[in-house]
Amino acid sequence: MSKKASKHKLRSAEWFGRNDRDAFVHRSWMKNQGFPHDLFDGRPVIGICNTWSEVTPCNAHFRELAEHVKAGVLEAGGFPLEFPVMSLGETVMRPTTMLFRNQVAMDVEESIRANPFDGIVLMMGCDKTTPALLMGAASCDLPTIGLSGGPMLNGKYRGEDIGSGTHVWKFTEALKIGTMKMADLPEAEACNARSAGHCMTMGTASTMAAMVEALGMSLPTNAAIPAVDSRRKVIARLTGRRIVAMVKEDLRMSKILTRKACENAIMVNGAIGGSTNAVVHLLAIAGRMGVKLTLDDWDRLGREMPCLVNLMPSGRYLMEDFYYAGGLPVVMKEIAGVLHKKARTVNGRTVWQNVKDAVNYNEAVITPLAKPFKPQGGIAVLRGNLAPDGAVLKPSAATPKLMQHKGRAVVFEDSADLHARIDDPKLDVRADDVLVLKNCGPKGYPGFPEVGNFALPAKILKQGVTDMVRISDARMSGTAYGTVVLHTAPEAAAGGPLALVKNGDVIEIDVPQRRIHLHVAADELARRRAAWKPLPPHADRGWVKLYCDTVMQADKGVDLDFLVGKSGADVAKPSH
Ligand code: FES
Repeated sequence: MSKKASKHKLRSAEWFGRNDRDAFVHRSWMKNQGFPHDLFDGRPVIGICNTWSEVTPCNAHFRELAEHVKAGVLEAGGFPLEFPVMSLGETVMRPTTMLFRNQVAMDVEESIRANPFDGIVLMMGCDKTTPALLMGAASCDLPTIGLSGGPMLNGKYRGEDIGSGTHVWKFTEALKIGTMKMADLPEAEACNARSAGHCMTMGTASTMAAMVEALGMSLPTNAAIPAVDSRRKVIARLTGRRIVAMVKEDLRMSKILTRKACENAIMVNGAIGGSTNAVVHLLAIAGRMGVKLTLDDWDRLGREMPCLVNLMPSGRYLMEDFYYAGGLPVVMKEIAGVLHKKARTVNGRTVWQNVKDAVNYNEAVITPLAKPFKPQGGIAVLRGNLAPDGAVLKPSAATPKLMQHKGRAVVFEDSADLHARIDDPKLDVRADDVLVLKNCGPKGYPGFPEVGNFALPAKILKQGVTDMVRISDARMSGTAYGTVVLHTAPEAAAGGPLALVKNGDVIEIDVPQRRIHLHVAADELARRRAAWKPLPPHADRGWVKLYCDTVMQADKGVDLDFLVGKSGADVAKPSH
């Protein structure tokens, strides 16, 4: 056995470290790839979980990036083996990538457990690839380190910085009111996504990359280094080196991803003005890890947290600017007074040791805590008779005067109904109405799509109105903005009160009081409930059936009920 071997017995020894027929088979077939015999001498075997795919454009540079991880693993005396898992291309997949997040998590979990890995590098980028990989790996609990693919360079269009996603909504509205022409689109498309990487706004991908770093699951600065910056290659290499050491230290995921780490991540989400999607994903990740986390933790820990990061969709700048300003370590240093500073991270150091020397190079991009960009950065959790199990709203992306609002409901039964009628000039709608969209939750769509920030009716936009209260059981893109109440639980398709709302009902939201109320008498609601009929099933077989039969609601993280928790990574019976 090599001097490089760990003190504790490695899983991979069950495959490669034996002298029997099975070991012959395991080693022999691997050697057809040109691996010399000494790579099977007991050194840590590192699985590099790659979500590369040409239909996941945000992760399309991952083949090259993986080579840098491998170089780092080899330099540290490990044996790198890259393996693919299903990838989720946000801008391509239908009906929504979220329908498949848990499927990828299953793929990751079973791929890790069934193979001879001692440590894992998770290569994550486009929105759902990050939570899916963390969830799957958490259920195995091996030494694991995250590597994000990095954001795209800033979008540049006709002299203006444009943000991925955020400007899609702006351009859509400009087309509706005629200030932009269809002929302008090809150029705008090219300017919007002009380099490798994921969305460069503080959308879901950037938020989740920040969550990975805040959880201590990646090396410091991982979240913000642009995809095409050479330092992204350097951190890939350092990540490869570090995972080998983590295996030797037996630094498992459960030693990093603790309750305190989750609390840090929630507070950081507030400070960066992060996506509402982080709520659902972190609940699911915590559920896999066995960490008790609830929606109320989100409200409690984020409530007082100001937003320090002036990035689109809430602000002006983009991820490239954020990195040049110092990135996430600056934010974490700024709010270190409330963070769990002693929380351990993958490099073996504490949160505070990682961030204490961070320097803010641009206070317009990352504002000081004493002079925050926005007073409220956290996620507000609303409750009431319309959302007994909660609904969420992102105050930093909302219109202040709409945070306390009472209005007449204009109801759309589902997304098809919305598309059919929203721009109808005859639609009975006023600017102070509350737009309600049903049946777009986890079971309803199915898959919990990002349609909660649906565009306002054309006739309202033409009045110069830019925001209205919208309520749905859907999610919204992290790149979006508006006074949008999301994740209403239980959802309409599960028989939640949202299903009972009718045109003309009065709905009240009071964000400071964390309240959402449907002003309809209880006996009338009971009558409507008795008449309510569930939707027909979306599928009678396959993944969609399994998903619809077992998916949990938004307040529980939308994992499948039988996937919650972890099973470790004990080596299974010999292969036959
Ligand atoms: Fe991939 Fe936005 S579409 S991160």
